[in-house]
Formats: sequence, C-alpha cells, structure tokens
Amino acid sequence: MIENGKCSVAIAGTGSYTPSRVLTNAELESLVDTSDEWITTRTGIKERRIAAPGETTSDMAVRAAEAALENARVKPEELDIIMVATVSPDTFFPATACYVQSRLGAKRATAFDVSAACSGFLFALQISRNFINAGHCEKVLIIGAEKLSSMTNWEDRNTCVLFGDGAGAAVLISNQDEADRARRVLSTVMGSDGDQTDILVVPGGGSKCPITPMNVDQRLNTISMVGRDVYKYAVNAMKNACEEALAAAGRTAADVSMVIPHQANIRIIEAIVERLHIPMEKTFINLTKYGNTSAAAIAIALDEANRTGAIKRGDIVLLVAFGAGLTWAASVVEW
Ligand code: UT7
Repeated sequence: MIENGKCSVAIAGTGSYTPSRVLTNAELESLVDTSDEWITTRTGIKERRIAAPGETTSDMAVRAAEAALENARVKPEELDIIMVATVSPDTFFPATACYVQSRLGAKRATAFDVSAACSGFLFALQISRNFINAGHCEKVLIIGAEKLSSMTNWEDRNTCVLFGDGAGAAVLISNQDEADRARRVLSTVMGSDGDQTDILVVPGGGSKCPITPMNVDQRLNTISMVGRDVYKYAVNAMKNACEEALAAAGRTAADVSMVIPHQANIRIIEAIVERLHIPMEKTFINLTKYGNTSAAAIAIALDEANRTGAIKRGDIVLLVAFGAGLTWAASVVEW
C-alpha cells in the first residue's frame, strides 16, 4: 500500500471551523452516569463542540473550505476536485461535496465524498496526491467534516462523552518546482481490515437494517463501539502506519518535528509515540477541547498547528489516523 510518489504535491493552505456551542464534561454528568474525572483520565477530553440546530455537515465544511482557500490564495473556480471525508453526510445522496461545490461556486470542480470514517481526511489526501501525480488535475480541496452529534446516542455513556462536531480543510496543489519544497507531501500510506466491521459501526439506517417504526426506539442509527477492542487495534495499526509512512518518505522517527494524530484518546496517542520513541511534546493535541470529530479531527488539528506556528517551514510533520472499517492511514509532510 505504500505510495511514495514524485514529491510534487504541496499543501497550499489549511482552514477549519468548529461550532460555538461548547458541551462540557460537567454538562454530560447531568445526562448520563459519568464524571469529569472518568472522562478526563480515560480519554483526555474536557469539552466538545456541538453544531447548532439546523447547522449541517456541509455548512461546517463550507466554513472550513473558505478559510483554507483564503489561506492558499486559491479561488473556488480554480478547483479541479472537491472531496469531503465524512460519516455524517447531509444526505445519503447526493454527496456532501456536491452541496459544498454549489455553496462555493466551484463550477469547474468534480465533487465526491470519501467514506473511511476517522481515516477519511488522510484517505482523501492520498487520493488527491495520486490524481495530481498522475497529471489529472492541479488543485484539489479536501475536507473532513462531521456532525457526529446527529448520530450519537445521548443515553449511552460509552460513546456520548467521546464525540464532537466540526470541519477542517486543506488545499492541495501541484508543484513541479524541485527547488520549492514548502509543505510537500513526502509519503502517504493507507490500509483497512474489513474483518473488524462490527466493533465500530452505526448498525442501522442503511440498506442492511433500515430504520422502521418497529425498531426506531433501539437507537440503531447511532454510533456503537467496543471501545477496548478498537483501542488495542488502533495502537498497533497507527504505530505500523507511522513506520510505513516514514520509511516511504526516507525518514525516521528521530526526524519527526511534530506528530498530528487522530484525536480520539490521549492514552492511544501516548502509547503510539512511546512505541515510536517520539516525545509527547512533539504531538499536537486538541482533543481536550473538541473530543473526537472523526474525519475532521486531523484536518482541524493541522489547521490549528499551521495557524499557531506549532509547525514551521522545514518541519517534518507526521499525520496518522485510525477509524471504523477498520481503517488507518499516515502521511509525512515536509512543512
Ligand atoms: O475514532 C475512531 C477510533 N476510536 C477510538 O480510537 C476509541 C478507542 N477506545 C477508547 O478510547 C476507549 O476504549 C474508551 C475511552 C472508549 C473507553 O475506555 P476504556 O479504558 O477502554 O474503558 P472500558 O470500555 O474498558 O470501560 C471501563 C469501565 C466500564 O465499567 P466496568 O464494566 O469496568 O464496571 C464501563 O462501563 O468504564 C465504564 N464506562 C464509564 N464510566 C463512566 C464507560 N464509559 C463510561 C463513562 N463514564 N462515560
């Protein structure tokens, strides 16, 4: 699965958006049998953002996209492709990316969604990189956007404390100037294990189990997770993906300036970087304030790291994701 291309794709700009409504651990204590202490020590999460009533995944995606386009100094009409990675699309069809295309006025673009759960943004990065390296296009907008609050069972303490809403985006461009190495994507890897579909799933609402008046009360259209099993698998898969991506980029863990991991659980992140012998100070963490925003998590973190100066020109940035499927992906970028 290693794809170590011609180093001709650069991240020209990033953007993100999170809703203003903050849901704290203290508020969750009044909803389910939980505590700030349990959530903080088991996950690291202190609060998460919740979309306003009526605010859609595409609304958030557009806000993040506009910020990324401005940051990249690229106009919507210059875009060749728009990809939205999401598990909480506005509608089953058409793709959320099509709603985004219309709102941006990106008339030339082809728009479609990517379904790889929390790994979706990095899957979109690799797909875009391959399109650009193949010479099919020059400018691609990738977005990770989620309204997980719409598919959360607010009576299930195993899951409702974990997730949040938000969106992040990046503009990728073709850059054939070998002397200009800024923000180059050096490697992308991805993988999946379809034997593990049951441990992280929204079981109902699709063709396998349509929601009917008979089963509507069973909350089948909400997230179900065997947390402990996902946790164990995530640590190994993410560590391996990091090693593959570093090898494909011709780098080692010692070269890494910053790890931007999927923001699901601080203990998972600690376990991965410990195995890679990378100090925790070299990880970018924002799950404390946003929780797990699935496909949006790495996209939001990348934008915050970019805008706050946590990653600087020349830094070796390691991105790594893991999610339902199970799926995983990693990428090395020379910032
Ligand atoms: O984004 C996609 C990838 N997702 C992930 O990577 C998530 C992976 N999993 C995890 O992060 C962790 O497994 C969780 C945070 C979901 C759970 O942490 P854990 O340390 O694995 O806890 P557990 O599921 O083994 O549960 C331990 C105990 C149980 O009680 P008993 O059976 O020991 O009496 C749970 O019922 O904690 C209980 N528990 C809670 N207690 C208070 C579960 N959720 C809560 C809660 N508040 N919110």
